[in-house]
Amino acid sequence: MTILVTGGLGFIGSHTVVALIEEGFKVVIADNLSNSSLEVLSSLEDITKENIPFHEIDIADEKVVISLFEEYDFNGVIHFAGYKAVGESVSEPIKYYRNNLLTTLTLADVCKKYGVTKFIFSSSATVYGDNNVPFDETMQLLPTTNPYGETKAICERILTDLANANTDFEVALLRYFNPIGAHPSAVIGELPKGIPNNLMPYITQVAKGNLKELQIFGDDYPTQDGTGVRDYIHVMDLAEGHVAALKNITTGVHIYNLGTGQGTSVLEIVKTFESVNNIKIPYKIVDRRSGDIAFSYADVSKAKKELNWSAKRNLENMCRDSWNFIQAL
Ligand code: NAD
Ligand code: UFG
Repeated sequence: MTILVTGGLGFIGSHTVVALIEEGFKVVIADNLSNSSLEVLSSLEDITKENIPFHEIDIADEKVVISLFEEYDFNGVIHFAGYKAVGESVSEPIKYYRNNLLTTLTLADVCKKYGVTKFIFSSSATVYGDNNVPFDETMQLLPTTNPYGETKAICERILTDLANANTDFEVALLRYFNPIGAHPSAVIGELPKGIPNNLMPYITQVAKGNLKELQIFGDDYPTQDGTGVRDYIHVMDLAEGHVAALKNITTGVHIYNLGTGQGTSVLEIVKTFESVNNIKIPYKIVDRRSGDIAFSYADVSKAKKELNWSAKRNLENMCRDSWNFIQAL
């Protein structure tokens, strides 16, 4: 099976490429390098010992996507390409709506024209908004507080309508919780440009001495210790979830949470990171970040039952692998 991986040089896409090749899939990567670099391609080739076809293209550009589908006989697509910075989506909403919607519309349209009916989409737990935890796939989606989240909800809707109108389509909408960690080789991982917005990339920069201290956004939530609770998942587990979805997908639209089902607070992450890596992380408590919710964690029973997939790596693995990647840079 040949799978097109859009955004395949990004954080989650690159780890998924490794998991796919390990399972015998052939992979073609398309990425415009807007948030990644070509070095990731050579790291992927080092890890997998394979030459991986790569095309530097914009997935929103219909002409070039058509040429790609003329060149290869794809059996399915995994669509990671998109922008993901929540804060930036608030200040530059059009940029987010344009890229996230146009990439999805273009790719879905070309898939339809070429009869490529397996379509796996990167959605996000953010579409649950402030529902009660654990979030399960049947919940009504609540408005998110940012344009990024809206793009995910709209793309889910577009792909659902496509599959309703074309009953041969097999669509998986994968709602990721909080991916952290890195490949155990420490040659691929997450390295955001500029000052990180997300917790683990911030912690690793503090550990490295590039940032003075972690700011913890609020300790007055109704959680175990007052700090925000999230469902952190090792990126290799997440990657393997995509392989499981590809292998088990059937016609129609199927929504799966990809998380661990465990809620961990910010302070618990900090303590685990400190003890696993033997490094002190200085922090101070500051005001809540606007748009944050107290709890986000998944009900993971559907993915377990239907995809025969569940996360295997624990928080210690996640903290160790995140740090090993940053340390090795
Ligand atoms: P990332 O930014 O590391 O990877 C996205 C990749 O897509 C990048 O390599 C970028 O260069 C590429 N890209 C962006 N626009 C493109 C375009 N128009 N054409 C071709 N390539 C393009 O992000 P990630 O963390 O790997 O996330 C992958 C997907 O998963 C995104 O859709 C993101 O919204 C979604 N997601 C991420 C998280 C998370 O916490 N990381 C959580 C939920 C959902
Ligand atoms: N946090 C801090 N300090 C920081 C960064 C984060 O205290 O410097 C806290 C947040 O307040 C939150 C927790 O750490 O309680 C996690 O925050 P992240 O920014 O790492 O992750 P979020 O859950 O806010 O959002 C992330 C992605 C979204 C995605 C969502 C669900 O940024 O795009 O996970 O997958 F939708």
